[in-house]
Amino acid sequence: MKTKKPKKPIIIAIANQKGGVAKTTTAINIGVGLVMHNKKVLLVDTDNQSHLSRWLGYAQDGKPTISELIWQTVSKNKQLISEAIRHSEIENIDYIPSNFMLAGIISILGTDSDSTGVFSRLFADETFEDYDYIIIDCPPTLDLLVSNALKACDKVLIPVQSDYWAYEGVDQLLATLQRVKQTTNVEKFVLGMLVTMFNNRTNSAKAIVEALKDSYGNFVFDTAISYRDEVKVASITHKSLVGRKSSVTGQQYMAVVDEIISKEDNING
Ligand SMILES: Nc1ncnc2c1ncn2[C@@H]1O[C@H](COP(=O)(O)OP(=O)(O)OP(=O)(O)O)[C@@H](O)[C@H]1O
Ligand SMILES: [Mg+2]
Repeated sequence: MKTKKPKKPIIIAIANQKGGVAKTTTAINIGVGLVMHNKKVLLVDTDNQSHLSRWLGYAQDGKPTISELIWQTVSKNKQLISEAIRHSEIENIDYIPSNFMLAGIISILGTDSDSTGVFSRLFADETFEDYDYIIIDCPPTLDLLVSNALKACDKVLIPVQSDYWAYEGVDQLLATLQRVKQTTNVEKFVLGMLVTMFNNRTNSAKAIVEALKDSYGNFVFDTAISYRDEVKVASITHKSLVGRKSSVTGQQYMAVVDEIISKEDNING
């Protein structure tokens, strides 16, 4: 029997308030991997560092960015959301960019009577029904922008760098998720923890992964992403690695995409 395509896109927030744990790298590679599986994907940059946007070729062009969409949603001053959506030739993927203006937007979010629900209202717009997945690349904070992303998402993907301080971030993030989702059962909103920058030659990295599995069990993705120089090169050349047969981390990211797709029916409830 043919299953009907759900009208609502699956929204995945990629979040961890720790900086430099591979949120943006993961957003790009997962996004492109899903496109390779014929999914229609929108990447959303909610970090004023604009790393994701610049990776995808964004240059200031006077057209709306995520900042204008937030402002419009709070002020109920609707304009065309589609004008904020770019298509990146670089990665054959759609995205909404951010720029430095986003830094000032937190105060606007704070004026909304539902200050953590602005993204939920924004992404409920019919423009987004075209997409199978919306992937939100979060900034390294736990501020109102991230609370909005967590409230709007169906699932959160938490990249965890395999180092000693990895845990700190995860527990605080889950506490925030619990608060914004207003439930103690946060597990149903967790897509998984993805171990990143894993060095299988060090005992410390192996110990961290084991400890993570002890604490969070099945929520840790089967696949870990290795620490490889090719990822650093890719972020300089602005090329994803996913799907590249010659790339170890590209193959690993594709395995993560396969895990996500295998969970798709569950996500849709
Ligand atoms: N598997 C990996 N191996 C080696 N380097 C990596 C790997 N993953 C990411 N990096 C590098 O680590 C740095 C941080 O990655 P990235 O920008 O994706 O992290 P982030 O969590 O988005 O950072 P921020 O918190 O600043 O937004 C980048 O230089 C990236 O190329
Ligand atoms: Mg980032």
